[in-house]
Amino acid sequence: MRRGLVIGNWKMSVNRQSAIELVDAIIANLAVTSAEVVVCPPYLYIPEVSQHIKNTDLVIGAQNVAAHETGAYTGEISARMLKEFNCKYAIVGHSECRAYSDYTNISVAKRFCLAVAEGIIPILSTTETLAERESGKTFDVIAEQLNAVIDMAGIESFKNAVLSYEPLWAIGTGKTATGEQAQEVHGFIRQLIADKNPDIAHNIQILYGGSVKPDNVQDLLKMPDIDGVLVGGASLSADSFLKIYSSFQK
Ligand code: 13P
Repeated sequence: MRRGLVIGNWKMSVNRQSAIELVDAIIANLAVTSAEVVVCPPYLYIPEVSQHIKNTDLVIGAQNVAAHETGAYTGEISARMLKEFNCKYAIVGHSECRAYSDYTNISVAKRFCLAVAEGIIPILSTTETLAERESGKTFDVIAEQLNAVIDMAGIESFKNAVLSYEPLWAIGTGKTATGEQAQEVHGFIRQLIADKNPDIAHNIQILYGGSVKPDNVQDLLKMPDIDGVLVGGASLSADSFLKIYSSFQK
């Protein structure tokens, strides 16, 4: 049985004070469910948020990780640095990074490998644009993104990884994929992994991200291959984030 997973990706939408207020409000109202609950603050606030969540059920992750281990890479943050501040997860190849920062499938694969090497669980994000969906290329682009990482990291490393499907056309747009649309892609992703290793495919959590809100999360979670959600906008309010989290069974 795959455990539910709810991840709040705060992106660049908080400041120091609002980050701490948000984390405190989440902790104060956190009822236990069967799911794990994670927040991903901007890098700068990771040390402080990490302190605040000590001895609570809230878990911390990073929104990204460098594609290099160490050295002269101005502005980058390595997997080892994230580990020093107890990050359990790191999002790798988020749709926005792929779209706005020219990430390649190879640089995403490097980030994935370095996270795994440090014992950080990569949340490998796969995505598509609206044009790709409308021209029937969804499965091809998702397969390319996944295969680049499988080729570099090896399928065994997916034992300690999470996958996500975050269509760019649904992110921050208020347009969510329907449960059926998301399930179709999630099923495809699980089958692609199953073709390499059925056990890993059975156990790996696949999250959906893209305008998840308290009023659409149930439709998504009903689907057999949607194990959790990555939440952007709705994770910036403790109330809506916890409503989403509480949709998981106790
Ligand atoms: P929104 O929930 O704001 O669409 O963002 C989704 C996302 O990018 C989560 O990583």
